[in-house]
This record gives sequence, C-alpha cells and structure tokens, in this order.
Amino acid sequence: MAREPLLRLENLSTHYISAQGTRVVRAVDEVSLSLNAGETLGIVGESGSGKSTLALTMLRVLPPAAHIVGGRILFEGEDLVAKSDADMREIRGKRIAMILQDPMASLNPLFTIGNQVAEPIQIHEKTPRSASWTRARELLKAVRIPSPETRVRQYPHEMSGGMRQRIVGAIGISCQPRLLIADEPTTSLDLTIQAQYLNLLRELQRAHGLALIFITHNLGIVAKMCDQLAVMYAGRVVESGSVSRIFNAPAHPYTRALLGSIPHMGDPQHRLTAIAGQPPDLAALPRGCSFAPRCPQAVDRCRIEAPPAFSIGEGRVARCWLAREVNTDRTTLAGAV
Ligand SMILES: Nc1ncnc2c1ncn2[C@@H]1O[C@H](COP(=O)(O)OP(=O)(O)OP(=O)(O)O)[C@@H](O)[C@H]1O
Ligand code: SF4
Ligand SMILES: [Mg+2]
Repeated sequence: MAREPLLRLENLSTHYISAQGTRVVRAVDEVSLSLNAGETLGIVGESGSGKSTLALTMLRVLPPAAHIVGGRILFEGEDLVAKSDADMREIRGKRIAMILQDPMASLNPLFTIGNQVAEPIQIHEKTPRSASWTRARELLKAVRIPSPETRVRQYPHEMSGGMRQRIVGAIGISCQPRLLIADEPTTSLDLTIQAQYLNLLRELQRAHGLALIFITHNLGIVAKMCDQLAVMYAGRVVESGSVSRIFNAPAHPYTRALLGSIPHMGDPQHRLTAIAGQPPDLAALPRGCSFAPRCPQAVDRCRIEAPPAFSIGEGRVARCWLAREVNTDRTTLAGAV
C-alpha cells in the first residue's frame, strides 16, 4: 500500500480581497502538491508568483486581507483548513515551523536570544525554565553559534546577520517539528555562511527526519537541497515533480525558460533567468493560460482556455496543453509497444 504523504495540498486557493470586495488578488490558485516525511520540496517562481502566500497559508498565519477560499491542507492526515485557531497555535512551532526571509522579523529585539529559543520549548513541551534554557544552549551549539553560554544572554542586535539567521533556524527546530518551511532563508547571508547554513539544515534534516519546504530564487540551492520541485507562475503550480526529472526535461515552457541556462546549474549563485515580458496582474488574469502572453509556443487555444493540471507520468504534473500532447504521445507509444 502506498504510504500517505506527510503533507498533501488539494486545490488550495488563497485570495487577497480588498475591504470593499472589489479587488481580488488570486495569489494562490488551486495548488495541489504533496511531500513525504524526510523529503525536501523546492518552490521557485518569479517575484509575486504566490510562494510566500502559499507558505503563510500552510501555517494559517495570513494577513487580514487574505482568505483561504478553497481546498485542503492535509498534514499527517488532518485538514489544517478546518482546524480551530487554538489547534493551529498547538501545531505551529511544534509540528510545523517556519523560517522567514528576514531574521529580524522573526526575532523580538526586546528579548534575549535565550528567552526566544527557550520559549517555544516551555510552551509546547511544558518543560521547566531551567531545562528549556539548557536545551536553548544545546540548540545554539547545534547551529554552530560560538560561546552559546554567553550568547543566550545577549540580544538580537548583538549578533551578525548570519548568526541571527542560524538562531531563527534553532528556534525553527527547537520542538523537533515534522515539517520546516524556509522562505528564502539564505538571501541575507554571504556565500560561505550560506553554504554552512545549507549543510547545517541538511544535517538537521537527516538527524530528525524533517521534511523541508525550501522557497528560493536560487536554482543552485534547488539542485543541492531538493528532491521535489514545484514551479509557480501567477499563483499556480505550473509544473511539479522530481528535481532531476524536471531539470533533465522540463515539460512546461515557463520551466524551460527559467532553466534557460542549465550549463551553469552547478553554480551555487545561479539565479532564475529573466524572462521577457511581465507576469500578469493577479487581480486581472488573462483568459486562458496565464503564461500565454509570454509563451513562445502559445497557440490559439491557449488564449481561450486555461489548461488543467495534467499528470504526465513519473509523478509529474504540468499545466500546459503541450505537456498534455507529450503525455498523449507517450500513452500512444506505450499502447503501441
Ligand atoms: N497583504 C497583501 N494584500 C494584497 N495583495 C498582496 C498582499 N501580500 C501579497 N500580495 C500579492 O499577492 C501576490 C503574491 O505575493 P507573494 O508575496 O506570495 O509572492 P512571492 O512569490 O513570495 O514573491 P517574492 O519572490 O517577491 O517573495 C502578489 O501579487 C502580491 O502583490
Ligand atoms: S498552455 Fe499554451 S501558452 Fe500556456 S504554457 Fe502551454 S503552450 Fe504556453
Ligand atoms: Mg516571497
């Protein structure tokens, strides 16, 4: 029997709706994805494609204008969309944790590092104060913070950017969550620290069997860190599947454009290739395929009818009429053999 994934998103949609209800931004639109325990999923896509909104949706920490308007978030078999706020407070930090792009946004300048690392342990694991501070020192050591005994008594402004990022990582893993969502966690780090931090996350993942979701603009990081990949465009996942299969043969024209300069893929700084044209306004999506105005392969049908998500074999999914033709060809071939 196939094992149930740790996380399964089913047709998840989150829209930002203006106070008057007149402007609806479809930031996350019918997203379906799954992730097994211990695996890493990379999420890539241009700025504004809905990656952060998707992450915030999974933890249900959305700003007031955002509303989950459809779909399910099945985590360990339970639908998080249907959970009460009190239940979500229990789940956040303990079973699912998140590392934000800007470490200062996650750290309170008024509290010591020790307080902030120890607090979730006290709350979620009902651990006495002294024991949770011991754990905090151990965690700081685990994320390679020098002299943790001294550092626990210091404040965020007394740390370097790299240290702050690692402290946020320590808070993220403090209650040994099953899933850690990291939204652009290395953007503020220099190259050496970035490499160290990624290695550290991998070590922690192996040690604790963590599932990781990695949101990034950096394809080198995807190649190094991720097993699965989801490519977002205009609020939708336009292609998903294993990293190696997508890198070897991208099925969606947008993915192909992003991976445009594959020869440099080993380059740890390799960023997404710029694509001519602008992404659409998510409050006024074009009829048909959202990528059609920029797609070199668009045909008439693409401008009239949006492609659904086609399963194209090997656990891969692509939202493109041409990907469906690839699939049809394969099916035909398989049928002919
Ligand atoms: N509070 C908000 N109110 C209204 N619209 C918002 C709000 N936050 C984000 N959006 C819109 O939702 C869309 C998705 O934004 P999101 O931040 O999820 O994108 P992203 O893929 O994370 O981008 P980036 O790569 O720049 O971080 C964008 O069109 C953005 O303008
Ligand atoms: S459906 Fe058409 S426009 Fe959209 S990506 Fe595929 S070929 Fe391009
Ligand atoms: Mg973002």
